[in-house]
Amino acid sequence: MRKIIFAFLFASGCIISLSRCKKSADSEFDHSVMRPWFDKNCKSCHGTGGSNRGAWSYDANNYESSIKKHISHIYQEVYLNKTMPPSGLSQAERDQFKAWYDAGYPAK
Ligand code: HEC
Repeated sequence: MRKIIFAFLFASGCIISLSRCKKSADSEFDHSVMRPWFDKNCKSCHGTGGSNRGAWSYDANNYESSIKKHISHIYQEVYLNKTMPPSGLSQAERDQFKAWYDAGYPAK
C-alpha cells in the first residue's frame, strides 16, 4: 500500500514537472536537513575515499543507488540496531532521521 502511495506521488511529480521526472532516475540527494546529516554522520567512513565503502557506499550525487535502494538496511542499522554511526547520534539527530524516514525519505 505504501509503495502504491509513493508511486502515485512520484507520478504526480512527473506530471507537474517533466524535468524533475527525467532527473529522478539518477537524482542528487540534496535534502536540506538530511544531506548535511548524512555528510556529518556517515560520509567520513562510507563516502568517496572512506574506508568502509564495501559495507555501504554513500554518494550524495546518486540518491537512487546510494540511499533509496539501501533504505531498509540504513533504517535497521541507524534506528533499530543503533550500530551506525559507531559514535552514536544525539536524540535530535535520531528524531530527524525518523521523521525523514517516515516521510518517505525524500531526496529534496
Ligand atoms: C567511523 C566509521 C563509520 C561511520 C561514521 C559510519 N559507519 Fe557504517 N559501517 C562502518 C563499518 C566499519 C561497517 C562494517 C561493520 C560490519 O561489517 O560489522 C559499517 C557498516 C554499515 C552498514 C552495513 C551493515 C551490515 O550489516 O551490512 C550500513 C548500512 C551502514 N554502515 C550505514 C551507516 C550509516 C547510515 C551511517 C551514518 C549514519 C554510518 N554507517 C556511519 C563504519 C562507519
